[in-house]
Amino acid sequence: MKKLLVANWKENPQTEAGAAKLFEAVGKTKRQNVDVIICPPFVYIEEVAASFRKMRTAAKKDLALGVQDVFWEEYGAFTSEVGPKMLKSLGVQYVIVGHSERRKYQKETDAMINKKIALALKDGLHVILCVGEPAAVRKNGTAAAKKFIKNQLKKDLAGVHGKIIVAYEPIWAIGTGKNDRPEDAVVIADFIKKILKDELGISNPRFLYGGSANSKNIRDYVQYKEVDGALVGGASLRAEEFKKMIALVGDQK
Ligand code: PGA
Repeated sequence: MKKLLVANWKENPQTEAGAAKLFEAVGKTKRQNVDVIICPPFVYIEEVAASFRKMRTAAKKDLALGVQDVFWEEYGAFTSEVGPKMLKSLGVQYVIVGHSERRKYQKETDAMINKKIALALKDGLHVILCVGEPAAVRKNGTAAAKKFIKNQLKKDLAGVHGKIIVAYEPIWAIGTGKNDRPEDAVVIADFIKKILKDELGISNPRFLYGGSANSKNIRDYVQYKEVDGALVGGASLRAEEFKKMIALVGDQK
């Protein structure tokens, strides 16, 4: 199966023109043997989706649009929220749910995340669920990290059926330049896939690593068959750097 790179732009860039430029640079890049998903902020979706529609069909085959959040109700009196059907109508196919920054700053709970995933899947979006332990847990070792992650998975995916991509993003590795050791991440990949298949009945789960992934370390992760790709924050905002990552992942045998 082809490897996957997901660009999480977070609250960037600061202008629509900047978003259009970044999307175009990545969209026009020659991609071989790799799928790319771009997740801009909601405000830029329309601009990016219009540019995506204008692209030649061949370029669109391995490029898709995603968003960084979704609400758990389809419509109604929920000020500022955005539902999955609205996103689908704009051409969005993927949604990141449960990112640690939302768990932290918006106080998103596992129960909220579970409702978001259930509705997103019901309405036909593919879900990228983020899990990962904080530094305080990791310092107690891999077993402690596994316990933390398993608890998140069980709560976030309770009663959920459908295609799931799990992004393992140890919180201490996000935006810090301190990426997890690839040989440790692959152990977690195996662990997560087993839980999804054996305990949650989710077939063919995919695994992404996230946390200070860049062109210098990406090959160390995707060399493993258990690692299907990466969720990339900071490095996805620099067009040349992200293009380099696309080329490196595509080259991976
Ligand atoms: P980073 O962010 O690549 O900047 O560490 C990853 C993420 O939070 O998705």
